[in-house]
Amino acid sequence: MDLYEYQARDMFERHGVPVLAGLIADTPEQAHAAAEKIGGLTVVKAQVKTGGRGKAGGVKVAPTADDATAAAAAILGLDIKGHIVRRVMVAAGADIDQEFYFSVLLDRANRNYLVLCSYEGGMEIEVLAEERPDALARIAINPASGIDLAKAKDIAVAAKFPAELVDAVAPVFVSLYDVFVKEDATLVEVNPLVLTKTGEIIALDGKVTLDENADFRHPHHAELADKEAADPLEERAKAHDLNYVKLDGEVGVIGNGAGLVMSTLDVVAYAGEHYGGVKPANFLDIGGGASAEVMAAGLDVILGDPQVKSVFVNVFGGITACDAVANGIVQALKIIGDGATKPLVVRLDGNSVDKGREILAAANHPLVTLADTMDQGAQKAAELASQ
Ligand SMILES: Nc1ncnc2c1ncn2[C@@H]1O[C@H](COP(=O)(O)OP(=O)(O)OP(=O)(O)O)[C@@H](O)[C@H]1O
Ligand SMILES: [Mg+2]
Repeated sequence: MDLYEYQARDMFERHGVPVLAGLIADTPEQAHAAAEKIGGLTVVKAQVKTGGRGKAGGVKVAPTADDATAAAAAILGLDIKGHIVRRVMVAAGADIDQEFYFSVLLDRANRNYLVLCSYEGGMEIEVLAEERPDALARIAINPASGIDLAKAKDIAVAAKFPAELVDAVAPVFVSLYDVFVKEDATLVEVNPLVLTKTGEIIALDGKVTLDENADFRHPHHAELADKEAADPLEERAKAHDLNYVKLDGEVGVIGNGAGLVMSTLDVVAYAGEHYGGVKPANFLDIGGGASAEVMAAGLDVILGDPQVKSVFVNVFGGITACDAVANGIVQALKIIGDGATKPLVVRLDGNSVDKGREILAAANHPLVTLADTMDQGAQKAAELASQ
């Protein structure tokens, strides 16, 4: 889960990372009040989960509270790379002397943590990495030893900070690493980290991605979730503990096991090319136990997607045998009743496949078509979706 800048700011503050005052506002009037409370020069910043806000007109300096009102009025409602601004943060203005870059992230490929750090900030990091790779230090971090003050100083030196700044930035790196580890983040990025004219080091912009697999350790992270921006179908799936991702096509897909579902998406997309380009409508992995309840919940989510024209159930019986899956499907259709309005193509294989097929044949549900193979099933589902 990605956090908004203001959420990252608050998290930084709790872990001792130096930040400036920042208050959120959903209206120009609230921005006025926030600017008055903070006092002096403020910066009004669009809160959207995408980069390049400054360039898109989403960051404005406001010398007075009235300017903050005007800035908020101009920023609220802006479309920044497809994200509509619904909220701004009014931040205390910093008197910037220099801008730096720091991030720590999970490096999956190397099964390690990685720090990226540069003394030369103020530039988009992707551009810096491309054009001036020497200016960007990449330092592998052993998760077992992490970043202590000594390591933080090594990072600052590697990133070419001058000697007189190394001692100033190192403790901030330690605190940022603290955020990364204690909050179970997969990314903590500060761009820019600044040196002010009065000699302070401050995180002016923060980007944090939290690892949702660790949510159970952080009950308070639930409050950070973006209820409005979340897809309602994904919310419904989450409530049933289903692994569901909404996609943009017409063929609903249900399978057991992430690998099987992934390859099902591929064969459906491939088959769909022969039927006017129909595509899979979702990823849904119902996992090992394809009980009637889980199947019903899965079908309920998929049928709730108005874009879905047909559903392809592709299950490989393993520990949960095909007869149990078939009974699950039959029961699920009973539970859903009149709610089931779209054709279902079912392909079963593996443990007890014959019994499973018999059960579905005997049930003879008008919406269900049986397919012998995965390719055939994908073909049929794509064809039905194209009609
Ligand atoms: N509180 C502040 N005081 C003074 N200047 C600021 C403040 N916040 C941001 N700025 C200036 O605005 C620039 C852009 O701000 P920021 O990094 O927050 O947005 P961005 O980089 O455009 O957005 P993103 O990081 O999402 O791409 C900063 O590099 C900094 O120069
Ligand atoms: Mg930034």
